[in-house]
Amino acid sequence: MADQFKRILVTAALPYANGPVHIGHMAGAYLPADLYVKYQRLKKRDILFICGSDEHGVPITIKADQEGVSPQDIVDRYHLMMKNAFSEFGIDFDNYSRTSLPVHHKTSQDFFTVLNSKGILNEKTEQQLFCEHDSMFLADRYVEGKCPKCGSEGARGDQCEACGSYLNQTDLVEPKCKICGNSPVIRETRHWYLPLGKFQDQLQTWIRSKSDWKDNVVNYCEGWFKEGLEDRAVTRDLKWGVNVPLPDAAGKVLYVWFDAPIGYISSTKEWAEKQGNPDKWKDYWFRQDTKLVHFIGKDNIVFHAIVFPAMLMAHGEFVLPDNVPANEFLNIEGKKLSTSRNYAVWLHEYLQEFKPDSLRYSLACTLPESKDSDFSWKEFQARHNNELADILGNFVNRTLTFAHKYFDGKVPVFNNPSAEDLQIQKYLSEAPEKIGKLYETYHFREAVQETMAVARLANKFFNDAEPWKTRVSDPEKCAATIHVCLQICRSLAILFLPVIPGTSGEIFRLLKCRQEELPSWTDASYFGLKEGAALNPPEILFTKIEDETISRQVEKLLKPDPVVTEAYQAEAIHPEISIDSFGLTDLRAAKIIQAEVFKGTDKLLKLRVSLGVEERQVLAGLQQHITPEELTGRTVVLVANLAPRKIKGEESKGMVLAGESKDGKLIPVFLPDSIPPGTIIR
Ligand code: 2FM
Ligand code: ZN
Repeated sequence: MADQFKRILVTAALPYANGPVHIGHMAGAYLPADLYVKYQRLKKRDILFICGSDEHGVPITIKADQEGVSPQDIVDRYHLMMKNAFSEFGIDFDNYSRTSLPVHHKTSQDFFTVLNSKGILNEKTEQQLFCEHDSMFLADRYVEGKCPKCGSEGARGDQCEACGSYLNQTDLVEPKCKICGNSPVIRETRHWYLPLGKFQDQLQTWIRSKSDWKDNVVNYCEGWFKEGLEDRAVTRDLKWGVNVPLPDAAGKVLYVWFDAPIGYISSTKEWAEKQGNPDKWKDYWFRQDTKLVHFIGKDNIVFHAIVFPAMLMAHGEFVLPDNVPANEFLNIEGKKLSTSRNYAVWLHEYLQEFKPDSLRYSLACTLPESKDSDFSWKEFQARHNNELADILGNFVNRTLTFAHKYFDGKVPVFNNPSAEDLQIQKYLSEAPEKIGKLYETYHFREAVQETMAVARLANKFFNDAEPWKTRVSDPEKCAATIHVCLQICRSLAILFLPVIPGTSGEIFRLLKCRQEELPSWTDASYFGLKEGAALNPPEILFTKIEDETISRQVEKLLKPDPVVTEAYQAEAIHPEISIDSFGLTDLRAAKIIQAEVFKGTDKLLKLRVSLGVEERQVLAGLQQHITPEELTGRTVVLVANLAPRKIKGEESKGMVLAGESKDGKLIPVFLPDSIPPGTIIR
């Protein structure tokens, strides 16, 4: 890292809170950002990792319309779900905020006010598409048509996903209202525009001065410059969003792409507030010796490399991004990932079956850094079995097994090192710098492969040294070999920490290294274990993944979603009861605040539910049917006056209602989130 930077501010694109996150998200922005941050933390740099949920915009309201619930219900549900999935996957944000918070609304409004009072924004009345059936202007994704640039169907009001063009909705060919399918009419409406054209020279000079930006990002921006930047509206006629802070702008909100990147600033403010140092965010945003890095997917390039920098330039006080390392897309089994067709690997579903590290490693090896890449379950299995288990896991295991069997579970002495010992010691002393350079320059795939190369070499060293022979023929040499191997295990734990933090922690534990203190990256370059230090007994780090497990994943991916469910009646209707008998059952809306697997059981989930006036614990037999993440934040129907029961020492007060399908699958009865907890269900 060039010395002019005193601190690093890393952002990862704020995901829309309109659905769960999938592996495409991880490969695009979050995993590379996390790899970079974990590496920089090991380098002991002052670094802050910021993210949060993007809770505004048409993606949210369309989802709410589809489900017949409020946008607030949608964002509450998915914010929590995404936050949990990120955290379980080991993505270690310093702050994960949400754009519905007051701090964000105020920060965005203040930003708009500064730009407006500086006279930068243009207020204009222009023609927009209006649906007479739904009585609304069709902002962004509310309208679809043919792209005027590439001719693809399904281009949206603001963007064509097929060719990546950033559109003006009135240019769409044969536009249709996304809600009712009718053709909209043209009506005039007043909005505020950011004159991007006025910033073109400044943006061009700035981007052309960047020698270390990725080609995909620079080429994309050059394409924009060639076309010439135009005015872009930064407000919309919508009900959901940040209100335009002007007295005569009722019914207008900020365009989601105006407020979302400001979310990076408000999330930093929230972090500073939580630190008890409310002004600390300014160090990161106002000082030119901050290295600001935006990790994003390629569909977000224009907003992070052109629009947001123009906003920051217009405002004047902020630091500009030092880099925008955008990734291309991740395909799955050779086909484009599609959330609407449920052709995706959802992170929360993955985490139900496998450990985070296997996917972190496998994705890190195939990141779409310079072109689209492909995830396949077979490759995932191979990376896990042939690399994590057979190379890394095997090396650590055979070393520790040997130390326990022949050296009393202690680090043997290192006397009279052989030429090979010294050679590998030298190699190790150079590895952190070599791999570090790759991290610094955003070449994560190579960084991870180079790290595995260390483990590969370590296995070769073990094999060539043949400690099982020298144990008898030359015990001193054998001790030295195992000493060196244990030292390599420690170095590997450090070098692998950004990629597979869970495994790295396991290795530290096996080596009885102090975990409280995060090691530094350069610690990996020297032998840090003391002769005679005690070790924990070996444990298997990676169990092989069977073919059958992988086939099930592939099947699940390729199985089309059932569109029609047959009518099904499990049993005959029960004998009649009176309304009074029914009235004895107290059914309530219960919001699930927390859900986890009830350890030691294979059927039960332990739920913490709110009934408005009280909270209680319910043990529900849903473990085989739904994940804790899918339940958290949802509202279900609870039989609230069922006599409490104790199961394995834990109390269960109430029963969650669920439908049972033909094959015995239980599906909880979900209520719209708009029904408050405690509501009586009759
Ligand atoms: O593409 C998306 O999911 C957007 N919500 C990303 C926003 S990034 C930033 F501007 F907040
Ligand atoms: Zn309509």
